[in-house]
Amino acid sequence: MSKYVAAIDQGTTSTRCMIFDHSGRVVSVDQREHEQIFPQAGWVEHDPEEVWRNTREVCAGALAKADLVTGDVVAVGITNQRETAVVWDRTTGKPVYNAIVWQDTRTDRIVNELARDGGPDRYRSTTGLPLATYFSGPKVKWILDNVDGAREKAEAGDLVFGNMDTWVLWNATGGPNGGLHYTDPTNASRTLLMDLDTLSWNENNAADMGIPLSMLPEIRSSSEVYGNIRERGALAGLPVAGILGDQQAATFGQACLSPGEAKNTYGTGNFILLNTGTEKVMSENGLLTTVCYKIGSNDSVYALEGSIAVTGSLVQWLRDNLGIIGSAPEIEALAGGVEDNGGAYFVPAFSGLFAPYWRSDARGAIVGLTRFVNKGHIARAVLEATAFQSREVVDAMNADSGVALTSLKVDGGMVANELLMQFQADILGVPVIRPVVAETTALGAAYAAGLAVGFWEGEDDIRNNWAQDKQWDPAMDDAHREKIYKTWKKAVTKTFDWVE
Ligand code: G3P
Repeated sequence: MSKYVAAIDQGTTSTRCMIFDHSGRVVSVDQREHEQIFPQAGWVEHDPEEVWRNTREVCAGALAKADLVTGDVVAVGITNQRETAVVWDRTTGKPVYNAIVWQDTRTDRIVNELARDGGPDRYRSTTGLPLATYFSGPKVKWILDNVDGAREKAEAGDLVFGNMDTWVLWNATGGPNGGLHYTDPTNASRTLLMDLDTLSWNENNAADMGIPLSMLPEIRSSSEVYGNIRERGALAGLPVAGILGDQQAATFGQACLSPGEAKNTYGTGNFILLNTGTEKVMSENGLLTTVCYKIGSNDSVYALEGSIAVTGSLVQWLRDNLGIIGSAPEIEALAGGVEDNGGAYFVPAFSGLFAPYWRSDARGAIVGLTRFVNKGHIARAVLEATAFQSREVVDAMNADSGVALTSLKVDGGMVANELLMQFQADILGVPVIRPVVAETTALGAAYAAGLAVGFWEGEDDIRNNWAQDKQWDPAMDDAHREKIYKTWKKAVTKTFDWVE
């Protein structure tokens, strides 16, 4: 009888449950969006209880849509938006504050204060990360500093912290009644609190941020049986056996399992990860060093990562804040109605700029406007921004690794956009390749869980399941490519020094 693996993908804008068969094919998917809460400029929050409710619903929904019963599923994997921080009471299960989302910039003052002693690279050698508002540690400090009574409760051992993987796992495995307070190294490596060599919490970093160690989840591997889902709900009793941060999960699902293989995921933001094997490569060009995955007791595999904060969310902004399009896919036709960007460049520094700049003082700008520019040009500039930002990260990766990338695997929602994919190949000057299953994030988490329970035997199964759907080859002449890329770089400089 056929068996399946389920993956819970707790993303930035929605939560999904996807069910996969042994060939890595999607059998069913159920999805719920959650509210994006913007209390003030630069702040982004989610309601963790809403997210958990949605998680339960989509698990039931995916099972029902596939016409399966719980016993048809052998294991559950979790993948998640990374860095988003939740602090909750271990006895009541209630969050003390909304989840502070990875895009949120409220911790800029905390980050600047920490940088005063040792500069922005103060924690790079231990954690692989620059000091930036993006990561979880400073967000936890903000909650402890600003929520009434939180610090006292934390010091008394009553509060716990988790990224969304931990929040989902803890609730799924019993919540206040024995829920597992675990995470995996891919998520822990995004906190500024984990030592990249030992995969354990760094006491000094935690002390610098005033975070009691008792709040931090236990760091397990990315693929092992952690425990079973409690006896309620659709997936009750099943083993949870995989945890991977969403970008690392996509890397795994794309079968980037050997050093030198890379993928670019087009989601809310874009995230390019290059597998560097068991060797941890420190970036000199604005990339992060992060854990790519750790399968059971195997050595951990590392990655170089270029994180781009705003790509797909810029299309949503065009839809929701300006109303230029009625739905996200409409952008392709609008952008396709003009020859080029008409001279307009849109630098979406809404959360400052991430890789390779790491500037929290930057804010978004549209430059190069003339009376000629129409909404088609703006739509085009929006799509081009994703491709230009990806090119900047690939340039940094080539410089760090000393080897030029020869092709790029892509996945995520925006890879359905043919115009963008062609422009991406044009601006990179290398082929862009889309797999048959573009939902590699959930697939990667399913693989991690399925490997732990022996549903898949090893990495060869993952490699064999990967199949190409389409390839775009570069068609732009070199001189034009370099000319427009140079203009983009100039546009980027116009966003600097905006926030004092
Ligand atoms: O680091 C943030 C990233 O994990 C968010 O991914 O796909 O939920 O936007 P996504």
